[in-house]
Amino acid sequence: MTIIPTGSRSMSEVWTTRSGPEPVEQAEPEQPELAPEIVFEVRNLAVKYGSAVAVRDITLDIASNEITAVIGPSGCGKSTFIRCLNRMNDLVPGARVEGLVRYHGEDLYDPKVDPAQVRRRIGMVFQRPNPFPKSIYDNVAYGPRINKMRRNMDETVERALSQAALWDEVKDKLKRSALALSGGQQQRLCIARALAVQPDVLLMDEPCSALDPIATARIEDLMEELKRDYTIVIVTHNMQQAARVSDRTAFLTTEVDDSGRRSGRLVEFDRTATIFTHPSDPRTEGYITGRFG
Ligand SMILES: Nc1ncnc2c1ncn2[C@@H]1O[C@H](COP(=O)(O)OP(=O)(O)OP(=O)(O)O)[C@@H](O)[C@H]1O
Ligand SMILES: [Mg+2]
Repeated sequence: MTIIPTGSRSMSEVWTTRSGPEPVEQAEPEQPELAPEIVFEVRNLAVKYGSAVAVRDITLDIASNEITAVIGPSGCGKSTFIRCLNRMNDLVPGARVEGLVRYHGEDLYDPKVDPAQVRRRIGMVFQRPNPFPKSIYDNVAYGPRINKMRRNMDETVERALSQAALWDEVKDKLKRSALALSGGQQQRLCIARALAVQPDVLLMDEPCSALDPIATARIEDLMEELKRDYTIVIVTHNMQQAARVSDRTAFLTTEVDDSGRRSGRLVEFDRTATIFTHPSDPRTEGYITGRFG
């Protein structure tokens, strides 16, 4: 079995790597801007469901310790695309993935790669909070248990709940049912459950669309915290959210061919500030200004 790399060097590690003796009493030399480490290289990706092409022509790089947002109208293939990044489409009957997805330089779809291992390294949070009908503790411990990470389970559970900014609210009721939590708390629990197996990447498919503005703001703050340690890809319908939280944005849209067949494709991918202020494609501008989609 191919071993998926267990982590990436953070930018702070890159910056603090030194060689040679310390300079004495010298002005700091200007640091050249380092290119970010690339976690995913996606090349000419297409996904078909039977004979229908759901999404095609996706070529982009996803950088480490950044938040990448995926936006676009309903049905353009955002969920289909994000599911390619941890091989969740393997579980969808009839789905076929073409093109290339490299994860830390390794072909994610190579037959030697173990999809279960991929999903441990690349966790996912869905639109509707989906806690298991178990206790809060058992929800978070679930992943570590099935991955045989049984050591220091109490610590693992506390760390994941703290990272998901939920610990203080639940530390006195860990044995209570997760289903008794509010929607926003359930979503943070699902984030804790994803973090408990110590992933490298967190994929979030509209994680706030079932939440009120206060719970949404908490999740957005949390994402900002988490990107120090994780690479995050978020699908969102909320353009303000994409503009607020993400570093780069991919805009997908639906095209209809002469025979009326619809398929999604990537229109533009750039730094979020550029997408929202100087998009290079008129379709992006039309979408973000609300004139289309
Ligand atoms: N399991 C499936 N089987 C067949 N077709 C599917 C399946 N899942 C999605 N599709 C089709 O693929 C296309 C893209 O769907 P997808 O769910 O990826 O869009 P989306 O951009 O996430 O939409 P939304 O914003 O509504 O969530 C749609 O035409 C959809 O009908
Ligand atoms: Mg979707």
